[in-house]
Amino acid sequence: MNSVVTEAAHEIRAVLENAVVEDKAAGSFKVNRRAFVEQAILELERRAVFDRCWLYLGHASEVAKPTSFITRSVAGRALLMNRDRHGALHVFHNACSHRGALVSRERSGARRAFQCPYHGWVYDDRGVLFDVPGREAMAPGLIEDGSMNLKPVAHVAEHRGFVFVNFDPHARLSLKEYLAGAADVLDIVADQGGDGMEVVGGMQEYSLAANWKLLQENSADGYHAAVTHSTYFDYVHSRDGVRTDIDPVAARGRCYDLGNGHAYTTSHGTMPWGRPYGRWIPGWGEEAKAEIERIVAQTIERLGPERAALVTQADRNTLIFPNLVVNDLMAVTIRTFYPVRTDYTEVSAWALAPIGESASSRDRRLRNFVEFLGPAGFATPDDVEMLALCQQGYSNLDSVQWNDISRGMHTDQPIKTDEAQMRAFWRRWHELMLAKR
Ligand code: FES
Ligand SMILES: [Fe+2]
Repeated sequence: MNSVVTEAAHEIRAVLENAVVEDKAAGSFKVNRRAFVEQAILELERRAVFDRCWLYLGHASEVAKPTSFITRSVAGRALLMNRDRHGALHVFHNACSHRGALVSRERSGARRAFQCPYHGWVYDDRGVLFDVPGREAMAPGLIEDGSMNLKPVAHVAEHRGFVFVNFDPHARLSLKEYLAGAADVLDIVADQGGDGMEVVGGMQEYSLAANWKLLQENSADGYHAAVTHSTYFDYVHSRDGVRTDIDPVAARGRCYDLGNGHAYTTSHGTMPWGRPYGRWIPGWGEEAKAEIERIVAQTIERLGPERAALVTQADRNTLIFPNLVVNDLMAVTIRTFYPVRTDYTEVSAWALAPIGESASSRDRRLRNFVEFLGPAGFATPDDVEMLALCQQGYSNLDSVQWNDISRGMHTDQPIKTDEAQMRAFWRRWHELMLAKR
């Protein structure tokens, strides 16, 4: 039995060693399709990637008020994020110190204390256990010594409202160091809100019958848009009369490696959709035009012309390793996702918007959001279908083994329709999976 296990471990190690094959001279970058189907690889990903990286939990605006809380699953762990009565943010493992029940079954709300529904232990909003039914039967000091308090997550940090957790007690990098160049891109997104940004409405949840890594690839894949989303572009063309045959070079569509597996694609001012925060389209009418010009003028005043141009005119699809997507296009979406199985992924998504924007601007934003980015919009169902087709195609991997991710390998200035952003992801994935840190 043991020798079978060892043999399997050796085999998977051999697969992993050669899972990503890069030949710079030949301009070739290949990923072995077994990376999307092997159970042993998924199990290693849970330990080597999800247990080690900083992972997005939620947005500070979701717990804006003292005593507000949300519960959420991150990398398979039930978590509780709350703001205590003094305004401090906490993230706990949502597990009672007594026998492990979720101390909060609610998804969100406001509470000064959390009472476990099983035997009734009560924790305050800083996780301190302060009431136990029949406490006289407990050993003296057991409650008072703090050992039974709610367990905080090993590391919690926030960047411009984006709250991340890290389950690795020995995490080597602070969130800021981990985000590397991605911090600057999140700053540009957050700069839309002079008074900050907020998550609007609830969480959208959907799933795909495909490996989680396919969604990270897809979320900044400029190459697929014209083909996969042709229905959307036809619709926008017929509705707004705008050109949809965008030349990525003319659109200053570029792609940047941001370090640590993060990357983003960006283009400037020429995409066919309107940006509620700065780019008007005829379909929105004259009144909207005046309002958007006002927004742009105010942003120039607040941030200066150069920064304001970036914030209001440029689109960006941002990949933060391993599984966070922040796309700032016709609206802003935050998206994160986790593998349930090698071929099944659960996705959570939110709309992010400037605090205090006008009702009309918010309306344009949310219409844009559901129209393209939402789970029933023009984009997401198409993408979900394409990723499922990839996964189905991997049934042939004994005969057809390699994914090609070579577009733009020949240039050090990759454009938006190249695949440099995916290569950044895969290089980091490979390092972590081989434990090269
Ligand atoms: S499991 Fe929570 S009080 Fe018993
Ligand atoms: Fe897409």
